Amino acid sequence: MKVESLKKVYSMKGKKEFIAVNDVSFAVNKGEIFGLLGPNGAGKTSTIKCICGLLQYDAGEVLVKGHSMQRSRTKGLNHISAVLEGNRNIYWRMTVEENLEFFAGINGIASGKTKQRRDYLLKQFQLEEQRNVVVNNLSRGMKQKVAIVISLITDKSIILLDEPTLGLDVGMSQDLRQLLRTIAKEEGKTILLSTHDMKVVEETCDRLVIINQGKTVAHDTVENLMKLTNQHNYRIQMKDCIPAEIKQKIKQITVKFNEQKNDSSFTYQITIHNPNDLFEIMNLLKISNVELISLERTNYDLEEVFMNLVKGVEKNEISS
Ligand SMILES: Nc1ncnc2c1ncn2[C@@H]1O[C@H](COP(=O)(O)OP(=O)(O)OP(=O)(O)O)[C@@H](O)[C@H]1O
Ligand SMILES: [Mg+2]
Repeated sequence: MKVESLKKVYSMKGKKEFIAVNDVSFAVNKGEIFGLLGPNGAGKTSTIKCICGLLQYDAGEVLVKGHSMQRSRTKGLNHISAVLEGNRNIYWRMTVEENLEFFAGINGIASGKTKQRRDYLLKQFQLEEQRNVVVNNLSRGMKQKVAIVISLITDKSIILLDEPTLGLDVGMSQDLRQLLRTIAKEEGKTILLSTHDMKVVEETCDRLVIINQGKTVAHDTVENLMKLTNQHNYRIQMKDCIPAEIKQKIKQITVKFNEQKNDSSFTYQITIHNPNDLFEIMNLLKISNVELISLERTNYDLEEVFMNLVKGVEKNEISS
């Protein structure tokens, strides 16, 4: 699947035109999970809607197995399954199984033919017990899983998922991330998912684009992006303030050093270039004789990653 210089403009009566997607390009290969990352309003849903033919685009091209989604939409649609926000692809008053039969049916697949696949997917997604439950009575996370199973029942090769883990609890989100990997790798599916959660991208995606206000700010492998962003952030909590001379020595090792006084402790936020520098810092802390309460690696924060990237773009623009 290929997206080339995609542009989507919303025009509403009496209002200025709004460019929601501005010159976005990427390609997703078979067996690959590709992430579309960006903050609220970045243009993720608009991009996905253009890809699955729900929106007409204003410039550029979306090619699905070589078919333009503008000029030969029906041919392209033969290869795409999508789950958009709000689980609109489910019939709430039918059971899980009835939904699966129905959606296989409207795609021209006989019930007998999908029986095996239904059983497989319900087992994979741990929905066997909910098989005969009316969808409306399921929890939000389960409904989300059902929506994804429906998108997989017809066995199309390209799956588009708009914020698949939004609103799921930690366990269910983790299960789903694992399942998506299995589906992509074992069944050779092409998966495009949108999210604003860096963790989802980190665990499931091979490559990604980050968009902001419709524009691409990064397009790379997840591995490279992780290297690019400062990964070695730690939060150290100490019972008391570290003596000045030791603080000075630590500051010489760190890239960033920040001290914060709490009610009954001190928190140090540090960034280092090389993870091995942590050994030296720990040694210095040991010499300080101040009690260590905790040490943790700080999570990658999308906002931070994102802000760094945006700043990087600005710097390039200024220097050129
Ligand atoms: N039908 C519409 N008419 C006018 N503007 C729209 C329409 N749909 C979306 N927009 C605007 O386009 C921009 C991109 O919206 P979009 O829904 O694609 O963002 P998103 O990245 O999916 O955000 P979120 O993370 O909140 O889901 C937003 O500023 C939004 O207000
Ligand atoms: Mg959206």
